[in-house]
Amino acid sequence: MTTRARRFRVAAPLLLSLLTSGCARDAPQGFLKPVGEAARKADALWDVVFLIAVVIFVIVEGLLVFAIIRFRHRPGRKPAQFEGNPRLEVILVLIPALILAGIAIPTVRTIFDLAEAPPKAERLDVTVIAHQFWWEYRYPDLGIETANELHIPTGKPVYVSLESADVIHSFWVPKLSGKQDNVPGYVNYLTLETDRPGTYFGQCAEYCGLSHANMRLRVVAQTPEGFAQWVAQQQEPSETPNVPLARKGRQLFLQGACAGCHAIEGTDAQGDVGPDLTHFASRRRFAGAIFESTADDLVAWLRDPPAVKPGAKMPDLGLSEDQIEALVAYLRTLR
Ligand code: CUA
Repeated sequence: MTTRARRFRVAAPLLLSLLTSGCARDAPQGFLKPVGEAARKADALWDVVFLIAVVIFVIVEGLLVFAIIRFRHRPGRKPAQFEGNPRLEVILVLIPALILAGIAIPTVRTIFDLAEAPPKAERLDVTVIAHQFWWEYRYPDLGIETANELHIPTGKPVYVSLESADVIHSFWVPKLSGKQDNVPGYVNYLTLETDRPGTYFGQCAEYCGLSHANMRLRVVAQTPEGFAQWVAQQQEPSETPNVPLARKGRQLFLQGACAGCHAIEGTDAQGDVGPDLTHFASRRRFAGAIFESTADDLVAWLRDPPAVKPGAKMPDLGLSEDQIEALVAYLRTLR
């Protein structure tokens, strides 16, 4: 092999690993740039552990390289033997044990710190129920139910109770908090908090079935005033549309299979299998936050949900193109 080929063989994997290791400047799910108090605490712990790991790496690799060169094989040289040296063995066990014990102190402290519930009077409670394959959000004190897009106010801790309707999922918004599992029959808790308005991305972080990778989520952080407006809008029941096509869609929705699984406040539709659609059109994304709430995406979805989101529990209802058009027109009035 030529020198150049050898250099390439060394450089290529290094370059590739750099390229694929998340060095992107705009990493929407980069946990190394937290924007909330809870995420900042976890990040601070990560910094400490990383620093310790780097020091250990440099010492161990340095000694290794030194030993490889200094004690390399030479004709007539016999390697020294250390077997059965109790003092050396105790030292070699003790050093890692002390390092781990040292790391355990800030780790356990951070775990307890993050697990502490913010005072009831100062926080907003949200229940997150994971489904195959979407997120349901309930605000018990505000009487709101929504899906896939979680709205939170800035400057206020949001205390999230995590539940699951079917299998184990994991709720993860890297910039706002660590990940926590949604386990059926059990409630886990997590605090989200940020001072910066914006949309933060996350996803299900536990393999949960066919559309695990399609279980995205968005957290919309708004100023307290913006959030109050959103709450007021979400608390309103739906309005009956005036446009004939949308009215036809409404009728189809209420008389067809849709109402069996979905609820729309202000109508007789009170199903609780799929997302509450009362303010469907106020959400920018739907179906696990993977589709945009545009007419095109809605049409594709209604034609055959499992075809565009594998494993979707909503079946192909065999709707005609006219029915789909009417349903889409109605859904888009649900602001
Ligand atoms: Cu839900 Cu993976």
